[in-house]
Amino acid sequence: MKTHIHDIDLAYTDEGQGIPLVFLHAFPLSKAMWAPQVEGLKSSHRVITLDLRGHGESDTRLWNFTLDDYAADVIGLLDHLNLSQAVCIGLSMGGYILFSLYRNYSDRIQAMILADTRAQADSEEGKAGRQAMAQVANKKRANAIANLMLPKLLALSTIQQHPNMVEQVREMILQAPSSGIISDLMAMAARPDSTDLLPMISCPTLIIVGENDVATPVAESQYMADRIQGSTMVKIPEAGHLSNFEQPENFNQALQSFLTQHSL
Ligand code: MLT
Repeated sequence: MKTHIHDIDLAYTDEGQGIPLVFLHAFPLSKAMWAPQVEGLKSSHRVITLDLRGHGESDTRLWNFTLDDYAADVIGLLDHLNLSQAVCIGLSMGGYILFSLYRNYSDRIQAMILADTRAQADSEEGKAGRQAMAQVANKKRANAIANLMLPKLLALSTIQQHPNMVEQVREMILQAPSSGIISDLMAMAARPDSTDLLPMISCPTLIIVGENDVATPVAESQYMADRIQGSTMVKIPEAGHLSNFEQPENFNQALQSFLTQHSL
């Protein structure tokens, strides 16, 4: 399905009934990364996934957007679906967008799941890395970005044992136009630090991290868990950065028990 929000066509899926769960994908992927969660949760919840602007089947405009613009798209989708609140799940860049959502629209967030993400802004070195990657995206397109990103997204054991998963993730990356990838990189480099927000988070919060995540290591999740009051943290064995995709059963189980614990 598609809806027109802020001058772009935004693609989304909406399956099942019950408390809405809205899934925000990682850089530079698409809603397809949430396929195991749609399958696993649609019998108990209303499961909504969207392609962020410039990804999957959503289009974009060429500009230096901020992650607040991406968050505003999510709010536009909630408005379109007449949802006053939702449980939001963000993985990595999706988590950065979730911080923006909480900062600007906390009344719309019923609970949140921060997966394989971090609260800190980019370091100067990190920003320089984004700029270098943007040049690759501009000159060499998405396939070169896929080659750079795959070892960061998936655990070595996943790459060695599940070549089909590697290909599925590559396909998701190849769907993104260079403009979408470059917008993400500029928006992530410019994002504010969210560490000051952590003690102010008062909704139920679950933190999930793949034990072998190299992009946002376990220590980043522990940092958030230590500062978000009442939060729960779950480590997923044999998973890298894309913990939901690499170990869907464990990820879904962590999500289900959190939802049950909070009567969601
Ligand atoms: C992601 O998975 O969204 C990215 O690794 C986030 C980042 O580059 O900071």
